[in-house]
Amino acid sequence: MIARWVKSNENLYRTAKLLRDIGGFPMRQPGSLTRMVTIWKIYTKTMLPPIRLFNICDAVESINRRGIPGDLVECGVWSGGSIALMALWDLRQNSDRRYHAFDSFEGLPPPIPADNEVFESFTSGGQGSIVSGNLTWTGLCQGDGADTVRAFFSRVGVPQNRTVLHVGWFQNTVPAATADIHSISILRIDGDWYDSTKTCLDHLYDVVSPGGLIIIDDYGTFSGCRKAVDEFREQRNIEASIEYIDDGCVQFAKPANNEQSSSTNIVNATLS
Ligand SMILES: C[S@@+](CC[C@H](N)C(=O)[O-])C[C@H]1O[C@@H](n2cnc3c(N)ncnc32)[C@H](O)[C@@H]1O
Repeated sequence: MIARWVKSNENLYRTAKLLRDIGGFPMRQPGSLTRMVTIWKIYTKTMLPPIRLFNICDAVESINRRGIPGDLVECGVWSGGSIALMALWDLRQNSDRRYHAFDSFEGLPPPIPADNEVFESFTSGGQGSIVSGNLTWTGLCQGDGADTVRAFFSRVGVPQNRTVLHVGWFQNTVPAATADIHSISILRIDGDWYDSTKTCLDHLYDVVSPGGLIIIDDYGTFSGCRKAVDEFREQRNIEASIEYIDDGCVQFAKPANNEQSSSTNIVNATLS
């Protein structure tokens, strides 16, 4: 009841959330106060912890400093906070990138057997039988609707003419979008499940620019997501080292042609 009341007042909710998380912000990092000012704008619209929000700023600075071409893409945006941060941080660098937000805007589809522990608890929780490939609304992890996210973007200054909302299941929207997205500098995948993650890698990895960053939010959290990433890397012989941002989120850099590179080296080298 109190929690619902706090959430209904955006400024109160933002302040309460910030006070709760303040210890998690790496405040000694140079430029952290400027980052906090931007993070403040999107803070009620993301479920990401502070370290992953700072990682987004690092990643955007890194691709801009290295001149890596391509749009910024997030698959799994929930209420839009993390893709808005990517866009707002990028706008400081005077780029002409577009920002792509993929989501059902209705929450998660059902997990499948490859999602192991989640699939088991989902089915044993009596949440219905699941037919693989038959995507239906589960009510899990539902953020704001697409119109509310659009209104949030314009309120915080994410330019409408450079932003594309891809509304629907990844399994439909991601393959269709490859006709329009020709290069990506950051591919951020935050879709929790095996099939959601795999669909995005299968269809979007090939248009990530060499040196571009692939960030997987749930690698350490959900075994289905990890399986999708590991299988994909094995199929494609990707040896670029995986860098842990925290226990759950990882990133790796797409190697420059015929080169295996480490995102740690790329990001660190360009931050110094
Ligand atoms: C953990 S939330 C994303 C959190 C978000 N990045 C943030 O900043 O808070 C996962 C999102 O992925 C979306 N999602 C997962 N699988 C999907 C699929 N197959 N198609 C469409 N949306 C999907 C859900 O609707 C949900 O909004």
